[in-house]
Amino acid sequence: MKIGIASDHGGFELKQELKLRLSRQNYTVVDFGNDALDSEDDYPDYVVPLSRAVANNEVERGIAVCGSGVGASIAANKVTGVRAALITDHFAAHQGVEDDNMNVICLGGRITGIETAFELVQAFLTAKFTYGERHLRRLVKADPSGFKLPD
Ligand code: RB5
Repeated sequence: MKIGIASDHGGFELKQELKLRLSRQNYTVVDFGNDALDSEDDYPDYVVPLSRAVANNEVERGIAVCGSGVGASIAANKVTGVRAALITDHFAAHQGVEDDNMNVICLGGRITGIETAFELVQAFLTAKFTYGERHLRRLVKADPSGFKLPD
């Protein structure tokens, strides 16, 4: 699976470690930056390009990290076709995909430690949308322009 990852300075350390671990698991990881720790950088500069790549199917899913995960989530959700959420627990990490077709997971680099974050990301990446009729109906209601029903 080809996935994308992005962070500002608040999530940089967690991004680097997640990238390393996911690469070892045979994921193809595209890094949308930042490429270096820069305390002056801004999360939208990395999260928005990542989100566009997810929306355009250049990568299958995205991981967006900032200090709290809040800014990353706000920025990602502005991109049509992206369904992002700040995740801190295992249940939401997989159910967000199964029911809500979440395609970007947002994490707080200053909130969630690497071991928990790695488990959350694995739960997110291995989960599949169920295409349940009621879930599709809710997604269309939530985002009429961004979510197309399958033919
Ligand atoms: C950056 O200092 C911090 O505000 C940012 O990483 C994030 O936490 C925003 O939501």
